[in-house]
Amino acid sequence: MRNILVTGGAGFIGSNFVRMILEEQKDCFVVNLDKLTYAGNLENLKKYKEHSNHHFVKGDICDGKLVKKLIDEFNVDAIVNFAAESHVDRSIEEPKVFIDTNVAGTLILLEIARDKELERFVQVSTDEVYGSLGPEGVFTETTPLSPNSPYSASKAAADHFVAAFGHTWGIRYNITRCSNNYGQYQFPEKMIPLMINNALNNKDLPVYGDGLYVRDWLYVYDHCTAVWKILTEATPGEIYNIGGCNEKTNLEVVGIILERLGKPDSLIKHVKDRPGHDRRYAIDATKIINELSWEPSVTFEEGIIETIDWYLNNNDWLESVVSGDYQKYYESMYKDR
Ligand code: NAD
Ligand code: DAU
Repeated sequence: MRNILVTGGAGFIGSNFVRMILEEQKDCFVVNLDKLTYAGNLENLKKYKEHSNHHFVKGDICDGKLVKKLIDEFNVDAIVNFAAESHVDRSIEEPKVFIDTNVAGTLILLEIARDKELERFVQVSTDEVYGSLGPEGVFTETTPLSPNSPYSASKAAADHFVAAFGHTWGIRYNITRCSNNYGQYQFPEKMIPLMINNALNNKDLPVYGDGLYVRDWLYVYDHCTAVWKILTEATPGEIYNIGGCNEKTNLEVVGIILERLGKPDSLIKHVKDRPGHDRRYAIDATKIINELSWEPSVTFEEGIIETIDWYLNNNDWLESVVSGDYQKYYESMYKDR
């Protein structure tokens, strides 16, 4: 795989993926197409802006003309589609843009991948398409899709379109379904960086409901290595769950953050719950472990400490993303909770 179009490569996971390729795959050229929404930030790739194997383009995946031009100009072999509206709470407030990017945008990329006969199309999906688990059980790749939020409904719709393009036109695709990521450069609308930022500023930590909701956390670098293995080694048409068996309640995660930062538990504030909040996610990643010999590089206990320390040591980045519009967002999301 030589020339890859990475969409959403200025976001949290996309920028970590681009960085991993530029550091570890010297013969690979990345065209990075990102609309730079509130979640996209070129500072995430500061060191790599001028890298000879990296070409950044500000643009929308819904702009088919631009995507076709980039594919021809850079002889693109494969698309890895990270671009998305990714935050569940925002999808509850404003679902429409989730259809535009996550569904209609993916459809445009699929039509182009089909017409240009690309070697591979990797759709970066999520475990949230499977819905919610009770206290027992795990999601496997054959768990029926049962999305609960507008965000996960849009991701599930995109997954169906990808598989339908494979079935109807034979496009060579893979779908990845990863659990919750954490790590450097995550925008502080998501739970872990939001709690770190609030704790650093001695602000309340808004824990939704009873705080006993369970997420299965994976270090972002480990998600990236899994996507790379799937892109380069998987059989077309296969779907892979990605996860590291790190189930934690939200209160457990918040407790680790407070302890590392030396802040008191009294900062925890239970607030009004997220409507339709999925109770528990847990991933069975046996397929990617057995078929592609993928394994996570760190435990949750190691990764979370590295992550908290990264935010401590990169206060400039954090300060720049929580200024301006973020304050308005925070106010509107949390004032009535
Ligand atoms: P993010 O919100 O941090 O980044 C999304 C990026 O996509 C941003 O840079 C944004 O500017 C860009 N983008 C949005 N709309 C676009 C458009 N129309 N055209 C081009 N670019 C556009 O999201 P993330 O957390 O990095 O997630 C990346 C992908 O991984 C998403 O598809 C998400 O569904 C999936 N995923 C995320 C997680 C997680 O825990 N964060 C877990 C599993 C899967
Ligand atoms: O499972 C994968 C998914 O994980 C991805 O597909 C999504 O893009 C990503 O945003 C994430 O979704 P979640 O809704 O699980 O992540 P979030 O960080 O928003 O919330 C994690 C948990 O923390 C969830 O139970 C809600 C809770 N929470 C979240 C916020 C923002 C709080 O208690 N308080 C908060 O302020």
